Amino acid sequence: MINYSKKVLKHFRNPHNLGNIKNADGVGEVGNLACGDVMKLYLKIEKNVIKEIKFQTYGCAAAIATSSVITDLVKGKTVEEALEMTNKSVIDSLDGLPPVKIHCSLLSVDALNEAIYDYLTKSKKEIPEVLAQRHKRMMTLQKMEEQGHHH
Ligand code: FES
Repeated sequence: MINYSKKVLKHFRNPHNLGNIKNADGVGEVGNLACGDVMKLYLKIEKNVIKEIKFQTYGCAAAIATSSVITDLVKGKTVEEALEMTNKSVIDSLDGLPPVKIHCSLLSVDALNEAIYDYLTKSKKEIPEVLAQRHKRMMTLQKMEEQGHHH
């Protein structure tokens, strides 16, 4: 039995901003190689500010709780502020995660980065170097997954 904090359980049982956004300005979809869980994140952006954010996550309690809390953390923030979001800030705002569940929190940060990348690309805005790097890493991971790891 995994020992989750009260906050994790609260977000897991009652996730915030669950669902999707029609005509989203940016969509990010990522998978977790370790467990196969997936997350999709939708953004509505106005004047560089995240006006609306929704997510769909197929995953464990920690994945759902971190998805939920990241939507709270970045709603109303600028794109630049959202890019500063780390999985540490996500974990801290949930009063911690059990060590075996740390990797689950990456899903939410990766999906957020991918959604912002999608938004900047679609609106023909400049992609910051740090985001371009993160996107490249995500693409490499995805390709590895498609090819499958057969050891
Ligand atoms: Fe897959 Fe947590 S076990 S995201």
